[in-house]
Amino acid sequence: MAGVRLESLTKSFGPAVTAVDRLDLDVADGEFLVLLGPSGCGKTTTLRLIAGLETASTGRIHIGGRCVNDVAPADRGVAMVFQDHVLFPHMTVRDNIGFAVKMRGLGKSEVKRRVDHAAALLSLDECLSRQPRELSGGQQQRVALAAAIVTQPQVFLFDEPLSNLDAALRVQARTEIARLHRELKATTLYVTHDQTEAMTLGDRIAVMNQGVVQQVAVPLNVYRRPANQFVAGFIGAPAMNFVTGTVDNGVFRPCGAGEEIEIALPSETPAGSVVLGVRPEDVLVNDPSVRMARSTVDLVERLGEQTLVHFELLGSHCVARVDAARDVAVASIIEIGFRAGACHFFANDATGVRLG
Ligand SMILES: Nc1ncnc2c1ncn2[C@@H]1O[C@H](COP(=O)(O)OP(=O)(O)OP(=O)(O)O)[C@@H](O)[C@H]1O
Ligand SMILES: [Mg+2]
Repeated sequence: MAGVRLESLTKSFGPAVTAVDRLDLDVADGEFLVLLGPSGCGKTTTLRLIAGLETASTGRIHIGGRCVNDVAPADRGVAMVFQDHVLFPHMTVRDNIGFAVKMRGLGKSEVKRRVDHAAALLSLDECLSRQPRELSGGQQQRVALAAAIVTQPQVFLFDEPLSNLDAALRVQARTEIARLHRELKATTLYVTHDQTEAMTLGDRIAVMNQGVVQQVAVPLNVYRRPANQFVAGFIGAPAMNFVTGTVDNGVFRPCGAGEEIEIALPSETPAGSVVLGVRPEDVLVNDPSVRMARSTVDLVERLGEQTLVHFELLGSHCVARVDAARDVAVASIIEIGFRAGACHFFANDATGVRLG
């Protein structure tokens, strides 16, 4: 097994596109690291660079302490599983799984041993003599996984491997990948834009935007202490509410509103223009202990266990997540408060960096 280290890794496609921009990342031996970010932020390009399917413009890639920039893809000890992994339609599942290692000249009995082992790990034993078209979508996905496992890579690279599956199968496949990682303990880079997958699978999450890593941290830290406004807005659904304003003498005053809101600011919050962030679950509706502002309910979405209440606050569209038992009607007037200590503050500039 081996860790992966990316040093100032950059990939440009012509002068106009920098897909990956001076990326530094350390993935520990045996770690499960999730790369999360919006479409086009450079996730696939990062994996393809590690796999050797793209050449770095500048920077270095180390696998197991060895610089692999000039090492051929087949000799890097990595296996990549793609979103639209295509199986050979006229080969059996057994031949599909064993294809790559057979091509590498491995003996027949060793190929059989590895295929049987991988099939058992993924509960594919019963399917080995079938053809891909005789499998469900989830089984086909598992065949692609098994084909990666038999190569015994030092590093697994997954590029949204579950995105073609329906919601129920995704959950099942997710738990299988988690179990597989516990058993194989292989270093894994896993790309997704599904937050639940990222939060549940990752030892750590690396959030990317526009080719740049914004934050690398354990999942709960990314949620609780986002490093900047981009991460704060990207992680969490519904997204964090933001209100722009100024801090003056320890008081937050929203832009364009006559009212002041008294909020206990972190002592380090500098005076000046800031963005206040508060998660929907930290917005209190009609709570007698905290009343900061008044608004009118625009929309009520009943999700079952919880209800989302939409309203305008100080010029911004906001959402509160409240218990489903609460009776909140559209067009009614509500009192809004923020849970004590739950507000985040970000610089109101291009960096959007966390304050305090
Ligand atoms: N071969 C290429 N030639 C030119 N531009 C490319 C090429 N491959 C990727 N790009 C560009 O690089 C950027 C990053 O692409 P990439 O595929 O890495 O994004 P991604 O994060 O995987 O997105 P998605 O979530 O949509 O898969 C995009 O702007 C994309 O258009
Ligand atoms: Mg991609």
